[in-house]
Amino acid sequence: MIYILHDNKKWIVELKKHLDENKLEYKEWFIDDESSVLENLDLDGVPPEGIFYNRVSASSHTRGARYSLEDSRALVEWLGSHNRRVINGRGTFNLETSKISQYLALKKVGVKTPETYIATNKNAIIKLCENKFGNNCIIKDNRSGSGIGVKRVISRDSLVEYLCSPSYVPPIDGITLVQEYIESPERYITRVELIGGNYVYSVRVDTSNGFNLCPADECNLTGKSKFTIIKESPHPELIEKYRQLAKNNNLDLCGIEYIVDGEGDTYTYDINCNTNYNTKAEERAGIKNLAVNKITELFKTGDK
Ligand SMILES: Nc1ncnc2c1ncn2[C@@H]1O[C@H](COP(=O)(O)OP(=O)(O)O)[C@@H](O)[C@H]1O
Ligand SMILES: [Mg+2]
Repeated sequence: MIYILHDNKKWIVELKKHLDENKLEYKEWFIDDESSVLENLDLDGVPPEGIFYNRVSASSHTRGARYSLEDSRALVEWLGSHNRRVINGRGTFNLETSKISQYLALKKVGVKTPETYIATNKNAIIKLCENKFGNNCIIKDNRSGSGIGVKRVISRDSLVEYLCSPSYVPPIDGITLVQEYIESPERYITRVELIGGNYVYSVRVDTSNGFNLCPADECNLTGKSKFTIIKESPHPELIEKYRQLAKNNNLDLCGIEYIVDGEGDTYTYDINCNTNYNTKAEERAGIKNLAVNKITELFKTGDK
């Protein structure tokens, strides 16, 4: 039996379709703030037999479930303590919930990240933007996802106005990152998908329309696709380092994002431990269902 731990029904539509088609049995453990899964948890009890796929997201608190992530972390602890195989198990929470942890893990394998400073209050944000980057930078939440809190800073005045506006939401963990803005002349970023620790493909994402780059079909509201799959990576040495990172951190599945500046240098700035695949982009590339097939292989081989 496959158990899918998740916080967003829309993000598992394709996976469920695929499992149905392949007659693979699964159950959903939907984790929101009223999650009966956690409430019924018996600490002296034994988890069911099966394989567990953890794909609860760091942005779940923005969809009305403040404690999804904390709750699933507790569940995964329990599963882990009974040696259940969890795809993206215990270790992934640390990376999923903190860009600081992501950057430290990237540095460890020799991957360049944008210059980044940490702020824990508005004054510190304003000072860092001014002193470190002359108010030409980007700020983002440490615990992020779906572009939460990502704001391009272009002047002190507009930054102060933003931080004082009613629309400003402080980061859920109190930590803001003040970061070097990497200008990409061709206006795209690249997201590298790894499954089972191995390279699957890269997705080039058009960034001309903003910072929410969720690649799920459901997130594409414009109809016009901004996703193009590149099968062979133009940066094989970077991919090797990503693979090492996945191995170091027991990451079964992840999507890692980098940006290329005008000099051709790559900067890696985001690791997504739960990733969405764009089926239409896969179809256009002639590799329909490749990602979901690879995940299904993980389910089959990982049940140990
Ligand atoms: N340092 C940066 N320089 C230029 N663009 C950036 C930078 N950081 C983020 N962005 C843009 O903002 C998007 C969202 O930022 P990201 O760090 O991936 O946050 P999230 O975790 O919310 O996806 C990126 O995909 C990219 O388009
Ligand atoms: Mg991102």
